[in-house]
Amino acid sequence: MKKTVLITGAAGFLGSHLCDRFIKEGYHVIAMDNLITGDMRNIEHLMKLEHFEFHHHDVTKHIHIVGELDYIMHFASPASPIDYLKIPIQTLKVSSLGTHNVLGLARVKKARVLVASTSEVYGDPTVHPQTEEYWGNVNPVGPRGCYDEAKRFMEAITMAYHNTHQVETRIVRIFNTYGPRMRLNDGRVLPAFIGQALRGEDLTMFGDGSQTRSFCYVSDLVDGIYRLLLSDYVMPVNIGNPSEITIKEFGEEILKLTGAKQKLISLALPKDDPKQRRPDISKAKALLDWEPKVNRAEGLKITYEYFKSLPHDELFKTEHRDLEKLNK
Ligand SMILES: NC(=O)c1ccc[n+]([C@@H]2O[C@H](COP(=O)([O-])OP(=O)(O)OC[C@H]3O[C@@H](n4cnc5c(N)ncnc54)[C@H](O)[C@@H]3O)[C@@H](O)[C@H]2O)c1
Repeated sequence: MKKTVLITGAAGFLGSHLCDRFIKEGYHVIAMDNLITGDMRNIEHLMKLEHFEFHHHDVTKHIHIVGELDYIMHFASPASPIDYLKIPIQTLKVSSLGTHNVLGLARVKKARVLVASTSEVYGDPTVHPQTEEYWGNVNPVGPRGCYDEAKRFMEAITMAYHNTHQVETRIVRIFNTYGPRMRLNDGRVLPAFIGQALRGEDLTMFGDGSQTRSFCYVSDLVDGIYRLLLSDYVMPVNIGNPSEITIKEFGEEILKLTGAKQKLISLALPKDDPKQRRPDISKAKALLDWEPKVNRAEGLKITYEYFKSLPHDELFKTEHRDLEKLNK
């Protein structure tokens, strides 16, 4: 008998890579998405498979699944600042009401559930690198509060279901991840830089570009998450790549990789932009025997080839959905 996994947010960047991994591991995959920021093209190669099914559904509404479920991967949520600034209410609802529904389903089905949290729970961190024991420095009423606080609530309700109803839960805190199937226009730094390089525009960084980020290639992330799911560890685990780089240096790497002749120019810093980001991954190393394998040069090359292979007009598309209209 194949094990069955429900993946929410399956048509998104990370969700679609998880679908690939679970299919490869021999699972029956139930993919669920309301397509608010996702794209069916990310999973169209799976649609004809016998052990893949797609449910177009908003997880903030009651989730009904027929039959047994072994695992639930809760990845539904807008994830880029451009998205969650446009749809703050949807963002709050998916990690609160949506997580509540997912946990209720896990309880009924006796399924193990893994929820996708984020390094944003650390806010603009005063501890560096960030360990799982750090409680964070988040502004609840700032522009990013809708995402950061929703994810903090998600972690809290997940622990409550574990402690109260003995639901088997896992919490991953994901740091910046990149790879094929990111959207060019989602406002995250890597697709933004590559899009600008390909369009012949200058690369725009916020402030002087001295803020740092650490980028993890998607296959490494998926492997860490898969190991965490199968482990018996209940508390949050950081998964990310600790190799830290300033945004300015990163922009220079992209210019070199793409051979673009443009310059890096600076824009005003957005409010509450974190100054530093680097995961402490000691826990993942010790508990999961996991560490990232793909270095930035290799990962960037694959990602750049993916963006180059997209139809040329994709490069010039602004956001294709009128997200604000959906913010109910
Ligand atoms: N990509 C990263 O670097 C990163 C970092 C930290 C955390 N995460 C988390 O990982 C998850 C996936 O992120 P991503 O980068 O793949 O984003 P994404 O926007 O590509 O994917 C999110 C998916 O969730 C779907 N969705 C949103 N609301 C929904 C709802 N109410 N019902 C059903 N589906 C819904 C979207 O349509 C989309 O397909 C998110 O929970 C995000 O917070 C991602």
